Amino acid sequence: MKDIKSPKIYLLFLTAWLNSFVLTAQVTYSADVKPIIQKHCISCHHPEGPAPFSLESYADVQKRAKFISYVTGQGYMPPWKADSTFQHYRNERILSANEIQQLRKWVETGTMMGSELEEGNGSQRIEIYRKPTVKLEMNAKFEIPSNNKDDFRFFYLPTKIKSEKYITGIEFRPDNKRRVHHSRLMIDTTGTIAGIDGLSEMDTAVYRYQNVALADEFLYGWVPGNFVFRFPKGFGRRLPANSNLILNMHYAPSVLKEEDRSGVHLYLTEKTNISREVKTYILRESNISNQPFEIRANEKPTFYMSSGVLDKDLSFITVQPHAHLLGKSFRAFAITGDGDLIPLVKINDWDFDWQTTYEFKQLIHVPAGSVIVMEGSYDNTSENPRNPYFPPRDAAYGWRTVDEMMNLIFYYVDYKPGDEKLELEYED
Ligand code: HEC
Repeated sequence: MKDIKSPKIYLLFLTAWLNSFVLTAQVTYSADVKPIIQKHCISCHHPEGPAPFSLESYADVQKRAKFISYVTGQGYMPPWKADSTFQHYRNERILSANEIQQLRKWVETGTMMGSELEEGNGSQRIEIYRKPTVKLEMNAKFEIPSNNKDDFRFFYLPTKIKSEKYITGIEFRPDNKRRVHHSRLMIDTTGTIAGIDGLSEMDTAVYRYQNVALADEFLYGWVPGNFVFRFPKGFGRRLPANSNLILNMHYAPSVLKEEDRSGVHLYLTEKTNISREVKTYILRESNISNQPFEIRANEKPTFYMSSGVLDKDLSFITVQPHAHLLGKSFRAFAITGDGDLIPLVKINDWDFDWQTTYEFKQLIHVPAGSVIVMEGSYDNTSENPRNPYFPPRDAAYGWRTVDEMMNLIFYYVDYKPGDEKLELEYED
C-alpha cells in the first residue's frame, strides 16, 4: 500500500482522470470535425475537385459520417502512401491518432452540429484552383475507342504564347476520370508537330513526328493521385517562346463508348520573377543493374535495383516514383561520397491509383559523386489483388498498364550554398 503514495501512481490517476474528461467532452461538427475536414479533406473534396463528392457543408459530412470514420480509421483517407518514418514532405496528408478518434467519437455521439454555423458557400475552397494564367483544353472531344484495349494517343494543345515564360505551377485536369489513366506533358517549339493531334501511338503516321527535337520531353507526368502542383516561390521551369504542349495520353480499356476532353492549367510568370530554374533528373529502366527487367509470372518477390551517379551538386525539390500494377514496394535514397545516406522516399504498399509528386520540406542537397539508388519489388503472383492477369503472365518494360515500369523522377535546381537551410515559400 505504501506504493500508492509514490508520485508516479498519482500521475497515473491524474492522467486517467484527465483522459476521462477528454473522452466525455462533447465532440461537435463546428468545434472539432469541421477543422479536421477543412485541413485534410477539402483540398480534394470540393465541387470542382478530384474526389467524387464534396465535404464542404455540415450536411455533406453528416450524410457520410460513418463512412468517413471508417475510411479514416483504416488509413484509406486521406490518401498517403509514403512512409513518414523514412522522410517527411511538405504535402504530407496524415491524420493524427487524436483526429481519427475525434471523428469516431463524433459518430458515436450522434454527429452533433454544435454552435450555429455559417455555411460557407464555397468561400473556403482553395482559391488557387481558380487562378491559372492559361487554361488549355484538347481541341475537341475525343471519342475513346470502346474495344476494351489500352489506348495511347497524342494530342497537340496550342498555347498561343509567343514569348518566353516560366512555369510556377501546373495542373493536369482529367475530364473522363474513369478512363484517363496517365498523361505525360511535353513541349514543342517548332510548330511542326500539330498534325500529331489525335493520333494513336500505333499509327505509323507518328513516325513523321518522332524525329523532331522537343524543347522538353518531360515537363510533367500526371498519374492518378496527383493534383495541382506548385513550385516554391521564385522557382520556375522554362517555357520557351512559341511553346505548344503535347499530351501523351493513356486511356484505360473499356467496352463503353465514352468521350474525353482533358485540359491543362498553367501558372506562368516572367523570367524576372524567377531566381532558380527547375530541371528534371530521371532514373529509367536502363539504370537497372540486374537486367533484364522481366517480371516472371508466379515468381515472388522480384527485386530490381537501379542507380545513377550525379556529376554535379543538385538540390532536389520533389521525388516521384513510378510503376504499374505489379509494383509492391519502393525505396529510394542517395549515398554521398562520404558514405552518408540521404533518405528520399519509401513506399511500403505501392498503389497505382495513389501516385504522388512528393515535395520535400526543404531542398535536399545531394553532392556531386553521390549515387542515387532506387530499389523496387514486384509481385506477379495471383496473391497480388492488382495483378491484371489471372493466371499471371510474364511482364516486361512497356508503356501499357499491363506492362511494367520503374522510374524515379526528380525536379531539382542546381545547388547553391545555403540551400539546405533555405526557407521555401509557397503561394498557397
Ligand atoms: C488527395 C485528394 C483527397 C483527399 C485529401 C481526401 N480524399 Fe477522400 N477521396 C478522394 C478520391 C479521388 C476518392 C474516390 C476514389 C477512391 O475512393 O479511392 C475519395 C473517396 C473518399 C471516400 C469514399 C471511399 C469509397 O470507398 O468510396 C470517403 C468516405 C472519403 N474520400 C473521405 C475523405 C476524408 C474524410 C478525407 C479527409 C480526412 C479525405 N477523403 C481526403 C480524394 C481525396
